[in-house]
Amino acid sequence: MSKDTRTIEALLKENRTFPPPPAFAAVANARDAGIYKEGEDMEKFWAREAAQLHWFRPWDRVLEWEYPLAWWFNGGTLNVSYNCLDRHLETWRRNKAALIWEGEPGDSVVLTYRDLYREVNKFAACLRSLGVRRNDRVTIYLPMIPELPIAMLACTRIGAVHNVVFGGFSAAALRDRINDIGAKVLITADGGFRKGRVVALKEHADTALAETPTIEKVIVTKRTGERVNMQPGRDLWWHELMAAAPLYTPPEHMEAEDPLFILHTSGTTGKPKGVVHTTAGYLVGVTTTSRYVFDLKDEDVYWCTADIGWITGHSYVVYGPLANGATVLMYEGSPDYPQPDRYWQIIEKYGVTIFYTAPTAIRSFMRAGPAYPARHDLSSLRLLGTVGEPINPEAWMWYYNYIGHRRCPIVDTWWQTETGMILITPLPGLTPLKPGSAFRPFPGVEAAVVDDRGEPVPPGKGGYLVIKKPWPAMMRTIFNDPERYVNQYWNRIPGYYFTGDGARVDEDGYFWLLGRVDDVINVSGHRIGTMEVESALVDHPDVAEAAVISREHEIKGQAIVAFVTVKDGVEATPRLAQELKEHVVQKIGALARPEAIFFTAELPKTRSGKIMRRLLRDIAEGRALGDTSTLADPATVAKLKAAYAEEA
Ligand code: WT7
Repeated sequence: MSKDTRTIEALLKENRTFPPPPAFAAVANARDAGIYKEGEDMEKFWAREAAQLHWFRPWDRVLEWEYPLAWWFNGGTLNVSYNCLDRHLETWRRNKAALIWEGEPGDSVVLTYRDLYREVNKFAACLRSLGVRRNDRVTIYLPMIPELPIAMLACTRIGAVHNVVFGGFSAAALRDRINDIGAKVLITADGGFRKGRVVALKEHADTALAETPTIEKVIVTKRTGERVNMQPGRDLWWHELMAAAPLYTPPEHMEAEDPLFILHTSGTTGKPKGVVHTTAGYLVGVTTTSRYVFDLKDEDVYWCTADIGWITGHSYVVYGPLANGATVLMYEGSPDYPQPDRYWQIIEKYGVTIFYTAPTAIRSFMRAGPAYPARHDLSSLRLLGTVGEPINPEAWMWYYNYIGHRRCPIVDTWWQTETGMILITPLPGLTPLKPGSAFRPFPGVEAAVVDDRGEPVPPGKGGYLVIKKPWPAMMRTIFNDPERYVNQYWNRIPGYYFTGDGARVDEDGYFWLLGRVDDVINVSGHRIGTMEVESALVDHPDVAEAAVISREHEIKGQAIVAFVTVKDGVEATPRLAQELKEHVVQKIGALARPEAIFFTAELPKTRSGKIMRRLLRDIAEGRALGDTSTLADPATVAKLKAAYAEEA
């Protein structure tokens, strides 16, 4: 039996259940199971939730749905920064901590709602003074420092569309994203701290900026104090602009469907997709899910460890929690710096009550051992969460025992960049948990597991996870590529939104996520397209062809493996393999570095010339080979196996 199948079997046999602790359930934000019934009247449910936000003008229609296009809350106007900041100032929350920030070297900053409001207003004025207007695009390439949420909220205040590019992406990746959306302004920093080292963000930005004709101005904030190159007329210091900025900027009255941000994510082609989220539906979706899934209360110190460069950070570090008036903890650095107990030390230091992280992080803590959390007082914790990939029951149990001390429910939340908000999740005060299952759709959301033709599959059988009805935070389009949006998400299984994930539903109606069914690899909870890595490899002058696949990895979940053929006359040496890995890092970023590269004389192809990735995966994971009858040259397999055995 293959390792894959073993995992699935283990998941299906998992039948331990953990009911909500009674004291938790009694006061949970979602404590009445009737909420699922309420969700069945979807429009009424979302309208009730939307009414908790501040609207300049109320909406006319909750939902207009012309398959596959949706408009939520049309006719309404609102402002995201107003909802995250201004309205809290009218209450006692004015002096409540909005952001508790911890830098990797141990420095820290606390911003109250009033402080954050002030910074955002001033920075919004700076953007305005540089000519940024409604619907202009602004690229943000920053480390995890307070300036990052400040810049995002400032964009929303004036109606500019932000595009955050994760600080771990390379100069080339930054350049491509800027050019994809035609950004006018770039916001970056002199650098950031990561594992005790300085990441030279401005240097990367300078490389990118050589080929980004639309960028007019660059705002640079000081984090590390390293010397950077400032180009006169183009580059401006954050602190100098802010020193002269007016204190107040009126919030733009945005239409419900005005774009709020664009965030790129990997798909099945070489080009990342600019996922477009709009204003009202997104804010309603993330505010509601934050309140019910994380049970946010005013007393909480809430910590989501995701980098804001990913959707998790957008929705559940910035917008959802702040719209709820929560206290958000934000940490700049790496979980194992200077020691593998850094997270536990931070939880103890600030009395974190809600902690949301990724299975890959949990598996690396497992490997470091329970002595690290045992050194710290984790008794403030009351709720744990995970996101990004399926969590194996062993990791779930470890998290439950050693971090939550068997007191804290765990919410395993399934969603995507495209969905904007959590779609499949337990509700911590209501759900008896099964380790490894994300439970079922959030109220107001309808999901199913179906076959190729969209027919439901029986309980226990695997199929494609689809979403059957629109939801408020759904993506609206791919920037500049509306056709690709319809084809990739709505035409695969007509009638439904195609997630790209496999799943099963068990006899009790619990959903079990089984990973991607397309050419997308999930490395440590980060999505990478096989084609993106392949394009990066064939971009190297010595490479003729490349095929990229994933193989199981104990900590990362999946690791990237590449099979490469070199051009005539090129020698396939270990040095070249090293060079190719670096080339991929340069093209995309360190997260896409292949773990292994295998040189081979040829790649397995079908008679129509398609690379058979499945076959390569089988070889890499040592499985019996599936159907090879469509292979153009059967001798290829033997050669490939030999190449693999040689290097592995
Ligand atoms: C893909 C989306 C928004 C979450 C962060 C990643 C996988 C996400 C789970 C989960 C099993 C999960 C899916 C999904 N995924 N959460 N709880 N259980 N798989 O966002 O980069 O857009 O990736 O992450 O495969 O399609 P993303």
